[in-house]
Amino acid sequence: MNAAEWKEKLSRVGESFSSAISGAAAGNIAEVELQFLGRKGELALLLRDLGSFTIEEKKELGRLGNELKARLVAALEARKAELGGGKSKAAAGLDLTLSGLPFPKGSLHPITQTIVRLSEAYLKLGFAMADGCHIEDDRHNFEALNFPPDHPARDMQDTFYVGVKDSSGKDMLLRTHTSPVQIRSMMAAPPPLRVFHPGRVFRSEAVDASHSFVFHQVEGLYVDRNVSMADLKWTVDAFIKDLFGSSAKVRFAPSYFPFVEPGAQVEISCVFCGGKADKCPVCKSTGWLEMLGAGMVHPNVLKACGHDPEKWSGFAFGAGVERFAMLLFGIKDMRMFYENDLRVWKQL
Ligand code: PHE
Repeated sequence: MNAAEWKEKLSRVGESFSSAISGAAAGNIAEVELQFLGRKGELALLLRDLGSFTIEEKKELGRLGNELKARLVAALEARKAELGGGKSKAAAGLDLTLSGLPFPKGSLHPITQTIVRLSEAYLKLGFAMADGCHIEDDRHNFEALNFPPDHPARDMQDTFYVGVKDSSGKDMLLRTHTSPVQIRSMMAAPPPLRVFHPGRVFRSEAVDASHSFVFHQVEGLYVDRNVSMADLKWTVDAFIKDLFGSSAKVRFAPSYFPFVEPGAQVEISCVFCGGKADKCPVCKSTGWLEMLGAGMVHPNVLKACGHDPEKWSGFAFGAGVERFAMLLFGIKDMRMFYENDLRVWKQL
């Protein structure tokens, strides 16, 4: 093939492209592109033949070839635009047989998971879930729980007041503990009674690694005839063993809460060092962790709810949910529960 014949062929490629492109529809424009501009397309094959020409000829013919190529590309783009994108759905890479795009799965918040876990432990012991409310009156949060007005024990629970008075003229407040649910339950139904309540509580406290102004508690109440401290100890022991396994040990130390007498602080053997107390930062090498408040329902509380303390007795025990969650999930800073950093949750 000489240079003239090559030029002739080139112009024929140009012509047949022109007719192909003007008749092209959205469905076959990709075919036209492949036929003329593809790696083994008509233009590419022709350009490959340039190898046998002289340098001078190559220069001229190469320029002509490139000019045609540019024209073809421009005409193709213009036609594609005319046809609205030009690509069929298949050419656009839409494959309906592929599986869908993955999306991240959610899960329950660790605090919710802990509440579920604690609730299961109460339910297994025969306690029924009771309900309460976040905004309380002075009577349920303090008065009926044997916190007289101006009693220093009220200072143990720095209170948020909501700026509204109740029917007796006292300030309404955000409940400082779940214990008002004891009062609500005892006023709603006569003993025998076995209830628990998990929920949010509020205290005007500065935030640090172990304090927050909003946190969660769960507590149980049992009132019946002849309920004794032995019943409380057995129940707490079963509760803790359910959560931390049968090797967990429980001990009671005297403590003060106005609504129980005697009152106790319940400690469990450290779940990190197993009570060995050897250089353990979690129990500060004491071997014990303070986990619960507990005690026998104070006669004044039974009276405030209209029940005869000579006839009925009971116990209550409660815990901070965050404290349990920190142990169950190995989290050292309580603030993590409220920051909701997915990088933390994904490691649990
Ligand atoms: N309500 C107490 C507190 O918030 C805890 C507690 C519950 C103590 C039940 C005894 C019995 O500190």
